[in-house]
Amino acid sequence: MKALIKKLVETSGPSGREDEIRAAIRAEIEPYIREIRTDSLGNLIVRKNAESNSGLRIMLSAHMDEIGVIATHVDPNGFIRFTNIGGVYPKYCLGSRVRFLDGTRGIIDSERNPKNNEQIPLEKMFIDTGASSASTVSIKPGDMAVFEGPFVDLGDKITAKSLDNRLGVAVLIELIKQTAASPHELYFVFTVQEEMQQSGAVTATYGIQPDLAIVVDVTATGDTPNGLRMEVSLGKGPAVKLCDQGMVCDPGIVKWMKETAEKAGISYQLEVLEKGTTDARPIQISRAGVPSGVVSIPCRYVHSPSEMVDFQDVRQSVRLIQELITNPIQLTYDT
Ligand code: CO
Ligand code: ZN
Repeated sequence: MKALIKKLVETSGPSGREDEIRAAIRAEIEPYIREIRTDSLGNLIVRKNAESNSGLRIMLSAHMDEIGVIATHVDPNGFIRFTNIGGVYPKYCLGSRVRFLDGTRGIIDSERNPKNNEQIPLEKMFIDTGASSASTVSIKPGDMAVFEGPFVDLGDKITAKSLDNRLGVAVLIELIKQTAASPHELYFVFTVQEEMQQSGAVTATYGIQPDLAIVVDVTATGDTPNGLRMEVSLGKGPAVKLCDQGMVCDPGIVKWMKETAEKAGISYQLEVLEKGTTDARPIQISRAGVPSGVVSIPCRYVHSPSEMVDFQDVRQSVRLIQELITNPIQLTYDT
């Protein structure tokens, strides 16, 4: 699975330009499935198992896009100004390397900053591709780039760019490969533009009309020096999301996830995330509403070129979801 993750993180897919990553995912899963399509926004939608009277229609969803930058202006000397695609932190930009979709590489630096302790905004930054004039740069306004952050295996932990959310993608791919029999009609969806207000999940869910949904994405942790006050750590298992900035998860789904994990002996954590949300928000409020929950993979330094996770948390997420989707489901609600 590490080889798969390496391949996925080293493939580009900034929000709205997911062609490369979509092709890579498709190549990976094609031998295992019969029904696969891409909708008009670019979501890759896979169906496994036909509709049945005994089971539910379950939507499993992971966004395949990643944050990046988009060129806004190229000056006569070839320096490229840019703005963000998704949640790009200025602090992670300085000194970073980027790769445009045509392969052009560059580094990010900024105008001189007289006030040394002030955060430099993206408008004061530029990309230097090593070109000496605008005429020798292939980049035009509107061209997108992703950050460079190669996969590094640290043993228990792994680090790379875009573990948000190529890990979710890898988890769904593993599930497609491993899930032979299920009483449920399963839709595996690789969504676009999650980092841009979750647009892909809106259309995908509307088209599928699931009975319930499970999203796989990363979440922040509270286990770094003087970090967030949050009870999620690397290495303690997948986190069952209770709520985030955009939604409160369906209590029946949360209960089902917790009980399933306990029965299977999978350790899990409970997540309350103060900033940020996932595709589960638009899924939950699609049409007349869809009971939705999230299996989150704890991740340090989210939206940096060097995100970090514990590999066992990834493996256990696969196990937990496998348990969830291969058994009969009866959601219950405490009153
Ligand atoms: Co993200
Ligand atoms: Zn994400």
